[in-house]
Amino acid sequence: MQRRRIIKVKDKSFTVTISERAIKRQIKRIADQINRDYEGKRPVFLAVLNGSFIFAADLLREIDLPCEISFVKLASYEGTNTTGSVREVIGLNVDITGRPVIIVEDIVDTGLTMAHMLDTLKKQNPESIDICTLLLKPSKLQVKLDIRYCCKQIPDDFVVGYGLDYDGFGRNTKDIYTII
Ligand code: IMP
Repeated sequence: MQRRRIIKVKDKSFTVTISERAIKRQIKRIADQINRDYEGKRPVFLAVLNGSFIFAADLLREIDLPCEISFVKLASYEGTNTTGSVREVIGLNVDITGRPVIIVEDIVDTGLTMAHMLDTLKKQNPESIDICTLLLKPSKLQVKLDIRYCCKQIPDDFVVGYGLDYDGFGRNTKDIYTII
């Protein structure tokens, strides 16, 4: 059965822009890179909740390395605009001192969330920190970030699905949808 190309999430309509197949292909591509780059290491993946929960689950199943995953929270977003405010990193229950860390994020928009996350994590002296994001809006970046792993760059449009939400809704789709 063909999946619906247009969906309504709360008061807004969205259309499919990245198919499940395309997402899976990109995840395999970056997982292969991580498997190569981290050969011989035991990385700690830190998935940023809530948006990255599906991405992290799919990514981890493509990783062949001995690794751990932990879930942290740090939100700066309400509705369809970033507020610019950042909150504390909570839920970090693994000791990352001297460990290679890979942050798993759903989407980098202004980059403020990631910058704050990096500052916080660096204080714990990890061996290294890489950023792995499903999506990146390069035109929105407000800070300089070295993003080593990125599945897909997208234009400056609001997206939902595959874990990403609009006011808490719309996470439960297999494809990614863009606002229309
Ligand atoms: P940043 O701090 O501006 O980079 O915001 C990153 C966070 O904003 C992401 O982790 C998402 O939770 C949220 N976000 C940014 N753009 C979108 C979008 O298009 N759809 C859903 N959430 C978004």
